[in-house]
Amino acid sequence: MTARTMRAAIFDLDGVIVDTAKYHYLAWKRLALELGFDFSEADNERLKGVSRMRSLEILLEIGGLDVSEADREAMAARKNEWYVQYISDMTPDELLPGAVEYIAFLRSKGIKIALASASKNASLILDRLQIGAAFDVVVDGTKVSKAKPDPEVFTRAAADLGVPNADCVVFEDAEAGVEAAIRAGMGCVGVGKPGNLRDAEIVITGFEPLLTLNMVPR
Ligand code: BG6
Ligand code: MG
Repeated sequence: MTARTMRAAIFDLDGVIVDTAKYHYLAWKRLALELGFDFSEADNERLKGVSRMRSLEILLEIGGLDVSEADREAMAARKNEWYVQYISDMTPDELLPGAVEYIAFLRSKGIKIALASASKNASLILDRLQIGAAFDVVVDGTKVSKAKPDPEVFTRAAADLGVPNADCVVFEDAEAGVEAAIRAGMGCVGVGKPGNLRDAEIVITGFEPLLTLNMVPR
């Protein structure tokens, strides 16, 4: 593991701070069924961390459909309308355990905090969860042109925070995000099942174990 001074912590949103994958799944499945094929939860795993349009391409590959650019745009828009309906009812109860407390702990130690998400719905989600103020900087899918595994979202977050890439640590649940962090020259903590996210420097199952180490602000 590379020794580094963590001056900034950069958090992915979906799957790290909140489990939105279940809502993406409902919306993609609804689209697949409308198009005449099924879409399983295992298929949905392939979409984690992946941009909306790339997710649609994967879905269409699974269904064996060849679709024009214009139809793809319309399908992605329809899926997003359903997804937005689902997430509009979210409440702070859906925050993943310990995430906000751990962010507050880091901030109390002077570490800068950014959100770096592929989602174009990040501001709605932050609003519903009432956690916008937890971040010094928010970079989402509306602000970058290249999706993870391209490092753009992370390098932009570091630049906005004014912290060198090498002093940033990324928290990620998706392979594409881990790759993006590594390509940005940042440290990476995987959040997920041990055995997955093999390229991350360490993998944690969630934030609660970190809090039980007495790392809560006093
Ligand atoms: C990522 C999710 O954070 O955002 C992906 O892990 C999703 O599953 C991507 O496709 C884009 O999200 P949105 O909200 O812009 O469709
Ligand atoms: Mg994620």
